[in-house]
Amino acid sequence: MREERKLAHIENYLKTCYAGNTLLSDIFIEHDPLPDLGIDDINTSVNLTSGRLEFPLLINAMTGGTDMAVNINEDLAKLAKKYGIAMAVGSQAIAIMDKKDAESFKIVREVMGSEGNILANMSALASVEDVQAAIDMIDANGVQLHLNPAQELVMEEGDRDFKGVCANIEKIMKEVSAPVIVKEVGFGFGESSIKKLIKLGVSDIDIGGAGGTNFIEIEDLRMGKYDYSDLYCWGNPTAYSIIKARDLSKDLFIIGSGGIRTSGEAIRAMVIGSNIVAMSGEILSYLMHGGYESADLFLEQFMYKFKVLMLLTGSRNIDELRSLPHKITGRLKDLLNE
Ligand SMILES: Cc1cc2nc3c(=O)[nH]c(=O)nc-3n(C[C@H](O)[C@H](O)[C@H](O)COP(=O)(O)O)c2cc1C
Repeated sequence: MREERKLAHIENYLKTCYAGNTLLSDIFIEHDPLPDLGIDDINTSVNLTSGRLEFPLLINAMTGGTDMAVNINEDLAKLAKKYGIAMAVGSQAIAIMDKKDAESFKIVREVMGSEGNILANMSALASVEDVQAAIDMIDANGVQLHLNPAQELVMEEGDRDFKGVCANIEKIMKEVSAPVIVKEVGFGFGESSIKKLIKLGVSDIDIGGAGGTNFIEIEDLRMGKYDYSDLYCWGNPTAYSIIKARDLSKDLFIIGSGGIRTSGEAIRAMVIGSNIVAMSGEILSYLMHGGYESADLFLEQFMYKFKVLMLLTGSRNIDELRSLPHKITGRLKDLLNE
């Protein structure tokens, strides 16, 4: 059942067509025709507590536990290693239940080696023992705890009760051996949820905002009893979530994610408060439609264009990029001013 669902997530993601809006296009950054920099002066590296990345990007959690996932995770891990970026594996619950499914997760550590920056992934409702087992399975540098109530509620076989999730996150943070990142999967965080996480002592948030991969649509395409198309527009847009999180805390480590497909979107997500950005669906599309070479070329272009935009904004390094002045326009401005 879980294996079928994992495959359906990939197949249905590729069929989704609802055009959400991250609101990142409402961020305006000035072009600087006098940058006084060369492209080779641009430094995109970032230092994390768990090591250094050559570029502020995480290939975000997607899959594991199926034969197809072995190949996908191997290819994604090769790309992460090649470009010196981080990678999160998909939910490991499947391999906690059946150890034979662990190979599709372990391959990521095998490919990326001991230097690789790899995140484990489990539900925020999982037990401490299972989260620790997921970390140990891949010798993870950190663990993502995913929050996906919207997805569960539209799945016929999904959870209906999320009581105790905050207390569980708190317990996991105290007891597991790796840093914890709390993540949404595409509906983002608003002011009240970010405040709850800060109160719990969470220091790392993966925004997973609305405007990219849409799990209400993905689950709807699995042909349940109800039609959920009227809910596809639900969620906190990525740009709104990042700004809210940064306004509430200068110290949070923010992974800007949800609908990051282009270098322009990534640059905007960084300027409004992200420490790094993450991407799932877009890289998966290139990999599934064009194979490894296509995903490789996509990432190469994405990173080159990110550097181009750093140069055109006069940003020598990621700290300078993150402190660029910017203006907020349109619907994003309306939402923030309300
Ligand atoms: C096919 C697919 C499977 C996913 N599976 C997981 C998962 O197992 N665990 C998780 O935390 N997020 C999962 N996600 C969510 C992503 O990690 C990410 O938060 C979300 O897709 C938003 O980013 P995007 O718009 O760049 O795709 C999945 C996404 C996709 C496209």
